[in-house]
Amino acid sequence: MKRFPTKALLMTLIFASTQLLFGQEPQITNIGNRTVLTLNGVWKYVVDPYQTGYYDYRRDVRDEQLNPSNSESLFLGYKPQNSSERVEYDFEKSDNILVPRDWNSQKEKLFYYEGSVWYYKAFDYEVASNGNRQFIYFGAANYEADVYLNGKKLGKHIGGFTPFNYEITGSLNPKGNFVIVKVDNTRGLEKVPTINTDWWNYGGLTRDVKIVEVAGTFIQDYYIQLAPNDSKSIEVSITLNGINKANQIVTIEIPGANINVRCTSDTEGKVKTTIAVKNLTLWSPDNPYLYDVILTHDKNILTDKIGFRTLKTQGKEILVNGKPVFLRGISIHEENGIRGGRAYSKEDARMLLGWAKELGCNFVRLAHYPHNENMALVADELGIMVWSEVPVYWTIQWQNPDTYNNAHNQLTDMITRDKNRASVIIWSMANETPVSPERTDFLKKMIESTRKLDPVRLVSAALERHTKTGSVNTQVIEDPLQEYVDIIAFNQYIGWYDGLPEKCKTAEFEIKYDKPVMVSEFGGDALQGNHGSKDDRWTEEFQEDLYVETLKMLDKIPQLRGITPWILADFRSPRRVLPYIQDGWNRKGLISETGDKKKAFFVLQKYYKTRKAEYEIK
Ligand code: GCU
Repeated sequence: MKRFPTKALLMTLIFASTQLLFGQEPQITNIGNRTVLTLNGVWKYVVDPYQTGYYDYRRDVRDEQLNPSNSESLFLGYKPQNSSERVEYDFEKSDNILVPRDWNSQKEKLFYYEGSVWYYKAFDYEVASNGNRQFIYFGAANYEADVYLNGKKLGKHIGGFTPFNYEITGSLNPKGNFVIVKVDNTRGLEKVPTINTDWWNYGGLTRDVKIVEVAGTFIQDYYIQLAPNDSKSIEVSITLNGINKANQIVTIEIPGANINVRCTSDTEGKVKTTIAVKNLTLWSPDNPYLYDVILTHDKNILTDKIGFRTLKTQGKEILVNGKPVFLRGISIHEENGIRGGRAYSKEDARMLLGWAKELGCNFVRLAHYPHNENMALVADELGIMVWSEVPVYWTIQWQNPDTYNNAHNQLTDMITRDKNRASVIIWSMANETPVSPERTDFLKKMIESTRKLDPVRLVSAALERHTKTGSVNTQVIEDPLQEYVDIIAFNQYIGWYDGLPEKCKTAEFEIKYDKPVMVSEFGGDALQGNHGSKDDRWTEEFQEDLYVETLKMLDKIPQLRGITPWILADFRSPRRVLPYIQDGWNRKGLISETGDKKKAFFVLQKYYKTRKAEYEIK
């Protein structure tokens, strides 16, 4: 009789396959509360458009050669031993660049640059205690990173928006270590995202770089959340990493809930338990209550601040802690328009989420890729619910197994990093992807994995709507994926890409599913300070009128339980070239890149006041 693999075996197989493919080590989570040496700050860099430091003139990969040339192999960080030796690079004499940051917004000459840049950082390192282990951690590097320590290859990471780490125990010297990273943001059809997007392809070491020091056997990862739709049980799973991971005592303390539980790990170093709880203060946008959580193994303590809330859909309703909610949202790109470039810091998160709060939001759509960890951490504190998405955007190579593994790897890492954040309530699989059997199979597999990796959160994707054949005013969503998601979300641009705001008056939506519906994008471009009549495109008055008409139109959808208009702030896009209006910016923001609000901001703010009051009485 054919035997089916057990769930755990299946999970391990899925996970192992992605690790093998990308040579990536298991993600160490909660870096923010671990012992680290930060490598953030000033680095050196070399721009290498022909990848001369990586490929020799026969296009052989230098770091795979037995004796790579000292003179051109940039990953060696080699220095001439005498005045006659030929070495054609010198990091120490090269220009400075900041990390974390993208290179485009730092160097005028790299503004449009897409290709390879070599990063170099020298550092000393004192091991805190023998027997400890060290890892080098990257919050993200866009897009492909080849990482070397002291001239030795650690690995290659693919995907620009998720964390990765490599073990470097035993490879560090007290003095004179150097890490070299080749970052390549070249776009490609087989990549995720693919070659065409409506955002700036910021390249570089865009997030934190740190050396993490842990004990020989340590708590690598954990999941501590209320059981699916059960406010009386906390589900805990903890993963130990190290030779002594079996039969280890791990204690879980949540002092604020009088919880102090001792568990023993199994032979795989896994701890799994369910803790009965009473009268927990549940996390919600109105009361974003976070508990101190303390995990202890062998005198090593790891702390976190975790909120507990229940989450489910019931017919058209989205229930948080059993109460119906309306997702008063806004879409956000991970960009700080005022400073320029990718957002990365707690301060950036506070600025962007602060604006969302000012709008009256209780929800944000972080588009179209996993944003930095600070966004979810600050959203936890501010009580803002989060939609987090993988960059399966527009038309990717659905039938290419490498593309699938890449997307699945990014999905796994997104969930692994943020699975303990109460604020994160929705995992999104994709944005505006063309319906086809290959595409739907691809996304269905992603959804199945998501439900295995995280049985609690809701799943969605930003679908597209179409005008019903034979009826100009009826909008329908002809997408089989509706069957598999918890929330039916779609983007619609009636009044901007489709007709004028006037058209909103007669448009009707026909959605046959008894599920919550969310409009994940709508909006139009306006240059802040550009005024005219409501019929003049690109003016604040046109955008204002579009918002007024669109909100009235969407209110007619009986299942409507949320919106995330496109978009909080103007953002850079190479697709937007209209002189004196766009100049490289998508102007659909409610706030300009200088932080100035447009008239439509106040239309949405007023609308959210009404929606908030409406749900407070529910
Ligand atoms: C699309 C897409 C966004 C894009 C927006 C626009 O729907 O999802 O990434 O920026 O529309 O055209 O402004």
